Amino acid sequence: MNIATIVLSAGKGTRMNSDIPKVLHEVLGKEIILWSNEVIKNFENKFFVIGHQHELVKGYISNDSQTVVQEEQLGTGHALSVVFNDENFLTDIYDYVLVIPGDVPLIKEEILNSLISKVVSSKASIGFVVASVKEPFGYGRVIVDEEDNVTKIVEERDASKEEKKINLINSGIYCFDYEFIKNHIEKLSDTNKQKEFYLTDLIELGFNKKEKILVVESSEVSIMGINSMDQLHNLEREAREIVINMHVDNGVYFQDSSTAYIDEGVSIGSGTKILANTHLLGNTVVGENCTIGPNTMISDSEIGSGSKVLYSVVSESSMKQEVQIGPYAHLRPGSNLGNNVKVGAFAETKKSNIGDGSKVPHLAYVGDGEIEDNVNFSAGSITVNYDGENKNKTIIKEGAFIGSDVMLVAPVTIGEGAVIGAGSVITKDVPAKALAVERSEQKNIEGYADRKKKRKKD
Ligand code: UD1
Ligand code: CA
Repeated sequence: MNIATIVLSAGKGTRMNSDIPKVLHEVLGKEIILWSNEVIKNFENKFFVIGHQHELVKGYISNDSQTVVQEEQLGTGHALSVVFNDENFLTDIYDYVLVIPGDVPLIKEEILNSLISKVVSSKASIGFVVASVKEPFGYGRVIVDEEDNVTKIVEERDASKEEKKINLINSGIYCFDYEFIKNHIEKLSDTNKQKEFYLTDLIELGFNKKEKILVVESSEVSIMGINSMDQLHNLEREAREIVINMHVDNGVYFQDSSTAYIDEGVSIGSGTKILANTHLLGNTVVGENCTIGPNTMISDSEIGSGSKVLYSVVSESSMKQEVQIGPYAHLRPGSNLGNNVKVGAFAETKKSNIGDGSKVPHLAYVGDGEIEDNVNFSAGSITVNYDGENKNKTIIKEGAFIGSDVMLVAPVTIGEGAVIGAGSVITKDVPAKALAVERSEQKNIEGYADRKKKRKKD
């Protein structure tokens, strides 16, 4: 069985009121077109019809799919005919053509498979997915005769008052017999309110030719289309709930799911608690039995099991197990922490490896650092990694103790077990086990306070 899959994603998305092509808007942190890529990943012979800002959109389409440019967007029927006339669309080798709209991100693979198998097994010319919805506005209505035969689809703008009341709608997902399309696609006309070539007119054409037409019913949420910001907003909310429910089923606790923002694709281990106002974004992986939040944003990062991240921001970083972050820590890209590390209040790290058991508990900056195991980085200390021109490395060997308010002027290496006295500005390497102190000697001037008081009185 040879099936071609065609995704229609050339439209501008005029009703979005936005310069961004419709399919590049995000749902749960993932562009709509990537959702389409994902749902058809197991299919072969894939074609995306692109048009509006096609150079930009093309960059998001997976390499195993071909693109066909529809220069002028004259309607969904026209989009399909452009594919049929494309030289890369090898004609006559397909038995069926699956067509899906590019603006319906929550389509399920199961529904596509069940549509295909139903069409194939009953040798239908047309099958499409429908849904009964509460608010049918904007969708094509499915018209059925007394004998329950689908006779046509009427678009919102062309529908009569009575037809507008119908809440059985067309999802825009179809499976057609290849020959049927080939013989009828050029017969579509644009004599309708929108002056567009409607793909949906193929249904009426098929009915008039006594072709077999069948429908498969889907839940409303999996076929929600995005035409406006309002619809995007509603869909985002639905999608969020689906994703959060999946995590709940996997044993994740949400203190308040209405304030949890979990991108699609984030993975969370069981026993983990997600506290209020937590954002887990991109390709984030959280282990088991962690506590994340409240008020935390983690993107594209890996959080090892048993870790706690409180009131903090973590980006493109990783930590092994039982790590404690925050409150008010900022882990910038490339911070890789070992087991039992602590990065505490008002500490920032960047592009640094921090070994097992090391602590950066308060008011510190570690940038471009190679920090080995069990290092203590006291309050107010920083790596001076930038000399105004270059970024330089600070290497701190195992077990070293960096006192408070220390400037480690990079490039510099602190030897194993070395101790740096508080307030030092370290510009030279420190040997293992040594004490390095760099500050002027303290003077105590006896009786000064009393003399000062006396001077004031006189
Ligand atoms: C379409 C259906 C409608 C259905 C709804 C489901 C038609 C005429 N109507 O309406 O029955 O209920 O989808 O969501 O098909 N596109 C192109 N080239 C074009 C025009 C559109 O590639 O020339 C793409 C769009 O980018 C979009 C998809 O086709 O991804 C659907 O087009 P859209 O304009 O959103 O159609 P709807 O009005 O939603
Ligand atoms: Ca649409």
